[in-house]
Amino acid sequence: MTQPDNQAPANLGGRKILLGVSGGIAAYKAPILVRLLRQAGADVQVVLTRSATRFVTATTLQAVSGRPIRDDLWDAAAEAAMGHIELARWADAVLIAPATAEMLSRLATGRADDLLTTLVLATRAPIFVAPAMNNAMWDHPATQRNASTLTDRGVNVLGPDSGEQACGEFGPGRMREPADLVADLCASFEPKDHLLAGKNVLVTAGPTREAIDPVRYVTNHSSGKQGYAMAAAARAAGAQVTLISGPVHLPTPIGVRRIDVTSAAEMHQAVLAHASTCDVFIGVAAVADYRPDRAHDQKIKKTDTGSGESGLSLRLVENPDIIAGVSSLERRPFVVGFAAETHDALSHARDKRKRKGMDLIVVNDVSDSSIGFNSDQNAATVIWEDGELSIPRQGKDLVARAVIDLIARQIRDPLAGANPERIAK
Ligand code: PMT
Repeated sequence: MTQPDNQAPANLGGRKILLGVSGGIAAYKAPILVRLLRQAGADVQVVLTRSATRFVTATTLQAVSGRPIRDDLWDAAAEAAMGHIELARWADAVLIAPATAEMLSRLATGRADDLLTTLVLATRAPIFVAPAMNNAMWDHPATQRNASTLTDRGVNVLGPDSGEQACGEFGPGRMREPADLVADLCASFEPKDHLLAGKNVLVTAGPTREAIDPVRYVTNHSSGKQGYAMAAAARAAGAQVTLISGPVHLPTPIGVRRIDVTSAAEMHQAVLAHASTCDVFIGVAAVADYRPDRAHDQKIKKTDTGSGESGLSLRLVENPDIIAGVSSLERRPFVVGFAAETHDALSHARDKRKRKGMDLIVVNDVSDSSIGFNSDQNAATVIWEDGELSIPRQGKDLVARAVIDLIARQIRDPLAGANPERIAK
């Protein structure tokens, strides 16, 4: 959710935030970010890289932060006041915004050749980076690998967002808005109910795409919102979360490790690689049940139908059932599935839960376009062996919290079920 620039949640009271600014055009937003961090109650120390000073001045940032700017590892006067190690210890959190492709690369390789990268190595505080770059640079395998390396190391990669870019192109690579970055930091400091502490949770989200030829595919309306909300809620409950995502346009939830896939076969492979080491598997993805029997190497031309008649027939073959495969593993996690139904939702879901060997199924009625696919809201019924719980219509984040809460209670004590007042059966 993007908040207006003049609003920021006020729960960073007393937190010391070290804001690193690297040299990209989004650095022009750094003064706004500083102002919002301070509005939220934080004490902000800005550290600029050499190239950041080409985009934003130290004078402006000094004025808005109320502290002298640091930009040099070799500044004897500044080091005498607070040396770089003291600065690294001072911070409750380090936020690098914008983080350029070059900065991600330097952080991923552990460079310490200027003040900011040295601080990152020296600090024990949580580190947040907000990538900002041209969309082709963000999509480049080298940048993607650097971002995954950082995520694997526990760095929180915030965004990037998708949209119009300074270079005139459109796509992922925009820095998250300053107000959203402040909200992300606030959320990371919120006291958490660590119901899933020590648990590994594997979540699938989004649609899959089944190729017809290099330019066409079969897919569905899943946006990934519900799955990403589940991953975020599991993380907030203290779990280590891996998110296997079909093609969507959503930022990775903070602290979540994300693996991108396209087809059901790729999702299947990625899930099997992780399922036997997770404690909970949550299948939210709308996996295509069928795929074209072959993906043509070249674009099918209108005249290539071969039938001699107008029209084109696609033969579809069944995809493997990922969740049924996880349920039948020898070392099996607690298995949760979602079901998108358009009619007789409850009876279909009860049957589906048993057929696929799930511990728990969350059914949502996708015939109502204001919930389910793509909307920000959902309503669901959770069904398990000896109980059912109805979750009223609300934001997908709140639905996710309710489901995670129920999962956590079931894992702790399978007989406990949910809050008895809310059990419908
Ligand atoms: O992504 P959003 O826009 O936020 O929308 C959310 C949602 C509607 C997609 C989500 O809430 C939801 O209902 N997800 C499940 C959709 C679905 O595919 O339902 P299903 O009834 O076809 O499948 C049941 C379960 O089997 C699901 O957990 C699914 O991941 C799993 N499955 C399905 C087919 C297959 N080949 N392998 C599977 O593992």
